[in-house]
Amino acid sequence: MYTLHLTKKASQLPLLTPCFAQAAKSKGAGANSPVSCPNEKVWKQIKEYQTLHHFKASAQETLLINLGPKEHVLLLGLGAKEKYTPEVLRRSLAAALKKTILKELTLDVEALVGSLPVPEAIAALLDACLLTGYQFNRYKKSATTAAQATETKNIYLDGPAALIEKIKKSYPAKLEVAKAIFLARDFINETPQTLHPEHYAQLIEQDAKKHLPKVKVTVLKKAQIQREQMHLLLAVNAASHYEPRFVHLHYRPTKKSPQSKHLVLVGKGITFDTGGYSLKPSASMVGMKGDMGGSATVYAAFRAAVLSQSPHEITCLLPMTDNTVGPKGIFPDAIVKSRAGITVEILNTDAEGRLILADALDYACDLKPDLIIDAATLTGACIVSLGKEVCALMGNHQGVIEIIKEEAKNNDEYLWQMPMIDEYRDDIKSKTADIKNIGSPMRAGTAIGGVFLEKFIKDQIPWIHLDIAGVSDDQTHLPYCPSHGASGIMVRTIYSMLMRANYQSLSNA
Ligand code: BES
Ligand code: ZN
Ligand code: ZN
Repeated sequence: MYTLHLTKKASQLPLLTPCFAQAAKSKGAGANSPVSCPNEKVWKQIKEYQTLHHFKASAQETLLINLGPKEHVLLLGLGAKEKYTPEVLRRSLAAALKKTILKELTLDVEALVGSLPVPEAIAALLDACLLTGYQFNRYKKSATTAAQATETKNIYLDGPAALIEKIKKSYPAKLEVAKAIFLARDFINETPQTLHPEHYAQLIEQDAKKHLPKVKVTVLKKAQIQREQMHLLLAVNAASHYEPRFVHLHYRPTKKSPQSKHLVLVGKGITFDTGGYSLKPSASMVGMKGDMGGSATVYAAFRAAVLSQSPHEITCLLPMTDNTVGPKGIFPDAIVKSRAGITVEILNTDAEGRLILADALDYACDLKPDLIIDAATLTGACIVSLGKEVCALMGNHQGVIEIIKEEAKNNDEYLWQMPMIDEYRDDIKSKTADIKNIGSPMRAGTAIGGVFLEKFIKDQIPWIHLDIAGVSDDQTHLPYCPSHGASGIMVRTIYSMLMRANYQSLSNA
């Protein structure tokens, strides 16, 4: 864990000093050196330092310099000045914090902000400090755990008072988002035997009751799920040793404004995905404890938005079950009537996420919200088309799709919109039921998932679908995420959607 102190510490703590890489031919002050440094005072002191010759100040490069008995400077490369962006700041600072052996250090915040727009730079700086120190070590032997517990770092800030003041203002909301992301990572990383649907629902209920007093928590158990006619959720749950759960959280803002909307989040909560009778091969099954990533992601965004007093009414719906094999499991070829009344031919029991989401989306529409956002680790095809780096985006309302693209860009999270065309819609027509749960093999798998879900959106309620199959874990390229395991990517974007004041385009639809 890293602790960010929003103060300057008087003692001589090592100073983290950002540096830019100089273009080879550039003339002027730093022409002889491949490095330029906005902090001239420090720079003068260290310029002759020998090792500096090997330091190119490329993004994420660090160099610890010992200037005297108790005097250190940690140089941090930020790459070329012309290419400096908030994301370069976020990644470079995170990489430095992760790598350094220093337990205490002070950030030269003015130099870090450089010529970037101040609000975005502050957001990136806080993200780097607050998101990077995550560890999941509850299953490590105690000795190791103790060693890792010492992996705490204290970060202090040095810079102009006005800038520190601005950082202080942004800090509380950023801290709530970071805490929520850590919680989502804990849920996703938890082992599947522990985090089964009954226990998962209980954990969310306890967390909401403890931290979100304004939120009404309802957990539907099997009998109520049956009463709700959620036969698709029940079908996926049929072979399970555990009951399904359907968590319904509702937040009403204290002060509603004329711009306030009712936003509904839906998250896939498959606590483990074996594939069911359409069994996954062993290698593909590993990692499927994370198939509840959508539910953890939307719950985290919900939690942080509630604690940041969002002006919007927000509902969070989390259908939960595992997808396993057993004598009671549904067979491929089964036809099941959804809550919406649409019959679904289940030709592949491994396409189960869309089944539980279908019932949840239908339930969501009954609440007559202004916007529904779902998040799900829905398709392996998403990783094939967009890699681990990019989240797939679909929806039925281009105006709101543009809004989430904008929010993702503000947060430096990658989204890419997939097409939704009638040919794809035709591909899920069934000969014996209304629709089938898969399209043609190896064809547009992610978008097929999208058009399937679209069928369950009633009354043209604006809806966004995020396929987070790739981004939900193993973000080796992002130093502010653990290189292995849950990432919490998309929490910040969804949170921004929940906090956004202006939804004018929704009213003009
Ligand atoms: N949970 C998987 C999708 C997934 C795969 C997420 C890899 C993360 C990493 C989903 O339930 C699934 O199995 N989808 C099938 C759909 C297919 C049968 C149409 C898939 O992607 O193979
Ligand atoms: Zn599956
Ligand atoms: Zn799945």
